[in-house]
Amino acid sequence: MKLLVLNGPNLNLLGMREPGVYGSDSYDEICRRIAGHAAARDIAVDFAQSNSEGGVIDRLHACIGAYDGVILNAGAYTHYSYAIRDAIAAIRLPVIEVHLSNIHAREEFRHTSVIAPACRGQIAGFGPVSYLLAVDAFAEMAAEG
Ligand code: DQA
Repeated sequence: MKLLVLNGPNLNLLGMREPGVYGSDSYDEICRRIAGHAAARDIAVDFAQSNSEGGVIDRLHACIGAYDGVILNAGAYTHYSYAIRDAIAAIRLPVIEVHLSNIHAREEFRHTSVIAPACRGQIAGFGPVSYLLAVDAFAEMAAEG
């Protein structure tokens, strides 16, 4: 199984960005942790990050025929990008929405995910572990067949 872990805007600044909310692990450290977790489950993972809506959409399109699924943290686009939601629906691949923080326990505007209806499921609130749980969800779904 091959997955893309796709991160949206501002997630490249993890570690220095609002550490009280997002923790002190850097983007690279989190990617290494995900890679190790996936390798232990015989899952190949690639990583991509874009600060633009079009960049996220282009990466999603490029997943067709290249990946079995996507772990997506769309950042703030989660809350208002119908274009990303449509891209998720268009690629017809399972996409798991993840968030480091519990978006439902934060400001009102973060309670809505417009991408959630197009995603296989949502994992939020576990810090970097949110990504590891998404890897596990893909592993379990594959085991179930
Ligand atoms: C986030 C939550 C979003 O509301 C925010 O805009 C982010 C990060 C998270 O991982 O908790 O950029 O997706």
